[in-house]
Amino acid sequence: MLSHLLHLHGVESVVVECRSRAYVEQRVRAGVLEQASADLLAETGVAERMRLEGLVHEGIHLLFNRRLHRVDFQKLAGRSITVYGQQEIVKDLIGARLAASGQIIFDAADVAISGILDEHPVIRFRENQIECDFIAGCDGDHGVCRTAIPQGMLTRYERNYPFAWLGILAQAAPASSELVYSNHERGFALLSMRTPAISRLYLQCSPDEDLANWPDDRIWDELGTRLDCDALQIASGPILQRGITPMRSSVCEPMQFGKLFLAGDAAHIVPPTGAKGMNLAIADAWVLARALAAFYHSGTSELLESYSSTCLPRTWRAQHFAWWMTSMLHRYEHDSGFEHRRQLAELDAVTTSQAAAAHLAENYTGFPLKSTAAGNIAGETACATKASQ
Ligand code: PHB
Repeated sequence: MLSHLLHLHGVESVVVECRSRAYVEQRVRAGVLEQASADLLAETGVAERMRLEGLVHEGIHLLFNRRLHRVDFQKLAGRSITVYGQQEIVKDLIGARLAASGQIIFDAADVAISGILDEHPVIRFRENQIECDFIAGCDGDHGVCRTAIPQGMLTRYERNYPFAWLGILAQAAPASSELVYSNHERGFALLSMRTPAISRLYLQCSPDEDLANWPDDRIWDELGTRLDCDALQIASGPILQRGITPMRSSVCEPMQFGKLFLAGDAAHIVPPTGAKGMNLAIADAWVLARALAAFYHSGTSELLESYSSTCLPRTWRAQHFAWWMTSMLHRYEHDSGFEHRRQLAELDAVTTSQAAAAHLAENYTGFPLKSTAAGNIAGETACATKASQ
């Protein structure tokens, strides 16, 4: 995304990816785009397939006490979400970069970075090296970039949740046309989808859960129990993919050191309950692209210097929202019953108070990027970075 935005700003970049193209195009990840993320893809010309295959949702359902309660996003926030798999966006962006002769190096083994305080930091992989003006560390929580920042130069704020999600992708028509978040005494469950024929479903499980203990029948039985209500008929089908997602929060402050800028999971992790991870990464990319464009076009580094202070408020807001949704919907192991009753009271408020529902709708559908992407990108003149191989 960052490379695509930089290209539209007339700034050259090289993407160094340690995985293969097939791997990144197939890996099943997030699937919910906030309104601003979907708009950005559309405004920057990479939404042709999203328009055809993405599912625009104007609300979600909360399920508790065996009853569905709809939260109407359009009515409460005037915005929608789009359900479209992250790997489909990755495919579209790779296609757009390659069509514009962009450079993406796949299967880059042994990637290392150095010289982040120098004029030209360096990315090394195999026998190659790239001399850069800047490095964007978009390499996830386990990537090499964040660890290149010397000890003591950034603070990491973390929280672990005492549960995980067991997720499946199944060839089964989704039982609801909109997402269903369920608070059930046996634990949280989520009904999502990728297409009208493919369901994406999740069950709260323990963090050290062994997938081997979950044969298909047990998964479908548990989903049937936790999503049980008159309005839903969960249809089972072949399970195409399964995995365990840990639930963690972390934020690095600042998100920048020297010539290295961290973006997405390299800088922050959110639990998936708020569907914020991919959207935060897209927002970081938008802020960073704009700052780099200002540097090359007008020689000002103000936006680069304020990169962290621009991104962190949105990050913490998403962090709070994801924590809130998580704590409202999951079962806590040593709960005496107090926690569950408190959650039901909160769900009752969220589904009966317009103000409480609007809070959920606004945060779920997300906030606009500061100004329209098209407005910023249009009219910029070309200027290449000094990155050379
Ligand atoms: C998904 O479809 O993968 C998904 C949807 C909503 C979430 C998390 C994951 O909160």
